[in-house]
Amino acid sequence: MLQRVLSVDEVLTTTRAVRKRLDLNRPVPAQLIRECLDIALQAPTGSNRQGWHFVVVTDPDVRARLAQLYRRSFALYRDSPGSAANVATDDAERAATQQRVASSADHLAEHLHEVPALLVPCITGRAGDHALAQASLYGSVLPAVWSFMLAARARGLGTAWTTLHLRYEQDAAALLGVPYPDVTQVALVPIAYAQDTAFKPAPRAPLDDVLHWDRW
Ligand SMILES: Cc1cc2nc3c(=O)[nH]c(=O)nc-3n(C[C@H](O)[C@H](O)[C@H](O)COP(=O)(O)O)c2cc1C
Repeated sequence: MLQRVLSVDEVLTTTRAVRKRLDLNRPVPAQLIRECLDIALQAPTGSNRQGWHFVVVTDPDVRARLAQLYRRSFALYRDSPGSAANVATDDAERAATQQRVASSADHLAEHLHEVPALLVPCITGRAGDHALAQASLYGSVLPAVWSFMLAARARGLGTAWTTLHLRYEQDAAALLGVPYPDVTQVALVPIAYAQDTAFKPAPRAPLDDVLHWDRW
Protein backbone atom coordinates (compact mmCIF):
# COMPACT_ATOMS: atom_id res chain seq x y z
CA MET A 1 0.00 0.00 0.00
CA LEU A 2 1.38 3.41 -0.95
CA GLN A 3 2.03 5.63 2.07
CA ARG A 4 0.38 9.06 1.78
CA VAL A 5 2.84 11.93 2.16
CA LEU A 6 2.29 13.32 5.66
CA SER A 7 2.76 16.99 6.53
CA VAL A 8 5.39 17.88 9.14
CA ASP A 9 2.67 18.57 11.72
CA GLU A 10 0.97 15.24 10.94
CA VAL A 11 4.22 13.37 11.48
CA LEU A 12 4.83 15.25 14.74
CA THR A 13 1.33 14.59 16.09
CA THR A 14 0.75 11.01 14.91
CA THR A 15 4.03 9.25 15.69
CA ARG A 16 2.58 6.86 18.27
CA ALA A 17 4.18 4.07 20.29
CA VAL A 18 3.31 1.24 17.87
CA ARG A 19 3.26 -2.16 19.52
CA LYS A 20 0.19 -4.20 18.49
CA ARG A 21 0.27 -3.01 14.90
CA LEU A 22 3.88 -3.96 14.12
CA ASP A 23 4.06 -6.29 11.12
CA LEU A 24 6.24 -9.10 12.47
CA ASN A 25 6.32 -10.97 9.16
CA ARG A 26 7.59 -8.30 6.81
CA PRO A 27 11.34 -7.69 6.76
CA VAL A 28 12.48 -4.07 6.95
CA PRO A 29 15.11 -3.26 4.28
CA ALA A 30 18.45 -2.27 5.82
CA GLN A 31 18.55 0.66 3.39
CA LEU A 32 15.35 2.11 4.86
CA ILE A 33 16.81 1.98 8.38
CA ARG A 34 20.00 3.63 7.12
CA GLU A 35 17.93 6.38 5.47
CA CYS A 36 16.13 7.14 8.76
CA LEU A 37 19.43 7.10 10.68
CA ASP A 38 20.98 9.48 8.13
CA ILE A 39 18.15 11.89 8.89
CA ALA A 40 18.65 11.36 12.64
CA LEU A 41 22.28 12.49 12.27
CA GLN A 42 20.98 16.01 11.59
CA ALA A 43 19.85 16.31 15.25
CA PRO A 44 21.72 18.66 17.60
CA THR A 45 24.50 17.54 19.98
CA GLY A 46 26.34 19.44 22.74
CA SER A 47 29.47 21.11 21.31
CA ASN A 48 28.57 19.38 18.03
CA ARG A 49 30.38 16.37 19.50
CA GLN A 50 28.29 13.71 17.69
CA GLY A 51 29.26 11.04 20.20
CA TRP A 52 26.33 8.88 19.23
CA HIS A 53 26.36 5.28 18.05
CA PHE A 54 23.49 3.19 16.76
CA VAL A 55 23.39 -0.60 17.10
CA VAL A 56 20.85 -2.20 14.76
CA VAL A 57 20.04 -5.79 15.68
CA THR A 58 18.45 -8.06 13.07
CA ASP A 59 20.17 -11.37 14.00
CA PRO A 60 17.33 -13.54 15.37
CA ASP A 61 19.47 -15.07 18.11
CA VAL A 62 20.68 -11.68 19.39
CA ARG A 63 17.14 -10.26 19.17
CA ALA A 64 15.90 -13.19 21.25
CA ARG A 65 18.51 -12.62 23.94
CA LEU A 66 17.87 -8.88 24.03
CA ALA A 67 14.14 -9.54 24.27
CA GLN A 68 14.80 -11.90 27.18
CA LEU A 69 16.53 -9.11 29.11
CA TYR A 70 13.65 -6.79 28.28
CA ARG A 71 11.06 -9.31 29.49
CA ARG A 72 12.91 -9.89 32.77
CA SER A 73 12.77 -6.16 33.43
CA PHE A 74 9.20 -5.86 32.17
CA ALA A 75 8.06 -8.48 34.70
CA LEU A 76 9.39 -6.28 37.55
CA TYR A 77 8.00 -3.10 35.99
CA ARG A 78 4.53 -4.49 35.36
CA ASP A 79 3.66 -4.86 39.04
CA SER A 80 5.42 -1.68 40.16
CA PRO A 81 3.51 1.45 41.27
CA GLY A 82 5.02 3.37 38.34
CA SER A 83 3.72 1.08 35.59
CA ALA A 84 1.28 2.40 32.96
CA ALA A 85 -1.53 0.27 34.43
CA ASN A 86 -0.94 1.67 37.93
CA VAL A 87 -0.84 5.41 37.15
CA ALA A 88 -3.35 6.88 39.65
CA THR A 89 -6.13 8.99 38.10
CA ASP A 90 -9.75 9.96 38.85
CA ASP A 91 -10.35 10.68 35.18
CA ALA A 92 -12.15 7.72 33.53
CA GLU A 93 -10.87 8.59 30.05
CA ARG A 94 -7.27 8.79 31.29
CA ALA A 95 -7.71 5.50 33.16
CA ALA A 96 -8.97 3.81 29.96
CA THR A 97 -5.97 5.20 28.03
CA GLN A 98 -3.58 3.86 30.69
CA GLN A 99 -5.16 0.40 30.45
CA ARG A 100 -4.74 0.49 26.65
CA VAL A 101 -1.07 1.44 27.07
CA ALA A 102 -0.60 -1.42 29.56
CA SER A 103 -2.20 -3.99 27.26
CA SER A 104 -0.12 -2.70 24.34
CA ALA A 105 3.07 -2.90 26.46
CA ASP A 106 2.22 -6.50 27.45
CA HIS A 107 1.88 -7.35 23.76
CA LEU A 108 5.25 -5.83 22.86
CA ALA A 109 7.00 -7.63 25.71
CA GLU A 110 5.58 -10.95 24.49
CA HIS A 111 6.57 -10.37 20.87
CA LEU A 112 9.74 -8.28 21.05
CA HIS A 113 11.97 -11.10 19.77
CA GLU A 114 9.79 -11.32 16.64
CA VAL A 115 10.20 -7.66 15.67
CA PRO A 116 12.41 -7.60 12.52
CA ALA A 117 14.87 -4.97 13.77
CA LEU A 118 15.79 -3.53 17.17
CA LEU A 119 17.69 -0.25 17.43
CA VAL A 120 19.85 0.43 20.49
CA PRO A 121 21.02 4.07 20.37
CA CYS A 122 24.10 4.85 22.46
CA ILE A 123 26.15 7.87 23.50
CA THR A 124 29.85 8.06 24.31
CA GLY A 125 30.32 8.81 28.02
CA ARG A 126 28.48 7.98 31.24
CA ALA A 127 26.28 10.46 33.10
CA GLY A 128 27.64 11.90 36.36
CA ASP A 129 25.50 13.21 39.24
CA HIS A 130 25.14 16.73 37.94
CA ALA A 131 22.11 17.87 35.95
CA LEU A 132 24.38 19.68 33.48
CA ALA A 133 26.33 16.52 32.71
CA GLN A 134 23.19 14.39 32.49
CA ALA A 135 21.30 16.83 30.28
CA SER A 136 24.31 17.26 28.00
CA LEU A 137 24.84 13.53 27.63
CA TYR A 138 21.25 12.40 27.07
CA GLY A 139 20.41 15.61 25.21
CA SER A 140 23.10 14.73 22.68
CA VAL A 141 21.39 11.55 21.53
CA LEU A 142 17.68 11.56 22.43
CA PRO A 143 16.74 14.21 19.83
CA ALA A 144 18.33 11.96 17.19
CA VAL A 145 16.34 8.97 18.43
CA TRP A 146 13.09 10.90 18.08
CA SER A 147 14.14 12.15 14.63
CA PHE A 148 14.72 8.52 13.66
CA MET A 149 11.23 7.59 14.85
CA LEU A 150 9.65 10.50 12.97
CA ALA A 151 11.53 9.61 9.77
CA ALA A 152 10.42 5.99 10.23
CA ARG A 153 6.79 7.06 10.66
CA ALA A 154 6.97 9.12 7.45
CA ARG A 155 8.06 5.94 5.63
CA GLY A 156 5.30 3.66 6.87
CA LEU A 157 7.32 2.07 9.68
CA GLY A 158 6.15 1.72 13.28
CA THR A 159 8.43 2.19 16.28
CA ALA A 160 8.10 2.51 20.06
CA TRP A 161 10.42 4.16 22.56
CA THR A 162 11.46 1.64 25.21
CA THR A 163 13.96 1.73 28.06
CA LEU A 164 13.24 -1.33 30.20
CA HIS A 165 16.18 -3.44 29.00
CA LEU A 166 18.46 -0.79 30.56
CA ARG A 167 17.86 -2.36 33.99
CA TYR A 168 20.32 -4.94 32.62
CA GLU A 169 22.41 -2.54 30.54
CA GLN A 170 25.67 -4.34 31.35
CA ASP A 171 24.29 -7.69 30.16
CA ALA A 172 23.06 -6.03 26.97
CA ALA A 173 26.45 -4.37 26.50
CA ALA A 174 28.17 -7.76 26.77
CA LEU A 175 25.68 -9.24 24.31
CA LEU A 176 26.11 -6.45 21.76
CA GLY A 177 29.81 -5.75 22.29
CA VAL A 178 29.15 -2.21 23.52
CA PRO A 179 32.07 -0.94 25.68
CA TYR A 180 30.00 -0.33 28.83
CA PRO A 181 32.47 1.82 30.84
CA ASP A 182 32.72 4.34 28.00
CA VAL A 183 29.37 4.15 26.21
CA THR A 184 25.80 4.49 27.55
CA GLN A 185 22.82 2.79 25.93
CA VAL A 186 19.80 5.07 26.04
CA ALA A 187 16.85 3.13 24.59
CA LEU A 188 15.69 0.13 22.59
CA VAL A 189 13.47 0.93 19.62
CA PRO A 190 11.63 -1.92 17.87
CA ILE A 191 11.28 -1.28 14.12
CA ALA A 192 8.75 -2.92 11.80
CA TYR A 193 6.37 -1.94 9.05
CA ALA A 194 3.13 -0.65 10.58
CA GLN A 195 0.18 -2.89 9.64
CA ASP A 196 -1.93 0.21 9.27
CA THR A 197 -0.65 3.74 9.20
CA ALA A 198 -3.82 5.68 10.13
CA PHE A 199 -2.53 6.92 13.48
CA LYS A 200 -4.16 9.89 15.20
CA PRO A 201 -3.12 12.54 17.72
CA ALA A 202 -3.34 11.01 21.23
CA PRO A 203 -5.27 12.43 24.18
CA ARG A 204 -2.89 14.38 26.43
CA ALA A 205 -3.35 16.45 29.60
CA PRO A 206 -4.15 20.04 28.56
CA LEU A 207 -1.34 22.49 27.83
CA ASP A 208 -2.58 24.92 30.50
CA ASP A 209 -1.94 22.29 33.21
CA VAL A 210 1.74 22.29 32.38
CA LEU A 211 2.49 25.71 30.90
CA HIS A 212 4.27 28.26 33.13
CA TRP A 213 4.71 31.64 31.51
CA ASP A 214 7.36 33.94 33.04
CA ARG A 215 7.46 31.89 36.29
CA TRP A 216 6.28 28.53 37.69
C1 LIG B 1 11.57 7.58 28.45
C2 LIG B 1 10.54 6.62 27.90
C3 LIG B 1 10.61 5.29 28.25
C4 LIG B 1 9.67 4.38 27.75
N1 LIG B 1 9.82 3.05 28.03
C5 LIG B 1 8.95 2.16 27.49
C6 LIG B 1 9.17 0.76 27.64
O1 LIG B 1 10.16 0.32 28.23
N2 LIG B 1 8.26 -0.08 27.10
C7 LIG B 1 7.18 0.35 26.39
O2 LIG B 1 6.39 -0.48 25.93
N3 LIG B 1 6.97 1.67 26.19
C8 LIG B 1 7.83 2.58 26.72
N4 LIG B 1 7.66 3.92 26.47
C9 LIG B 1 6.56 4.36 25.57
C10 LIG B 1 5.47 5.12 26.31
O3 LIG B 1 4.64 4.22 26.99
C11 LIG B 1 4.67 5.93 25.26
O4 LIG B 1 5.54 6.87 24.70
C12 LIG B 1 3.48 6.63 25.86
O5 LIG B 1 2.55 5.68 26.33
C13 LIG B 1 2.80 7.53 24.84
O6 LIG B 1 2.42 6.77 23.73
P1 LIG B 1 1.57 7.44 22.54
O7 LIG B 1 2.41 8.55 21.98
O8 LIG B 1 1.32 6.35 21.55
O9 LIG B 1 0.31 8.00 23.15
C14 LIG B 1 8.61 4.83 26.92
C15 LIG B 1 8.57 6.18 26.54
C16 LIG B 1 9.54 7.06 27.00
C17 LIG B 1 9.50 8.50 26.53
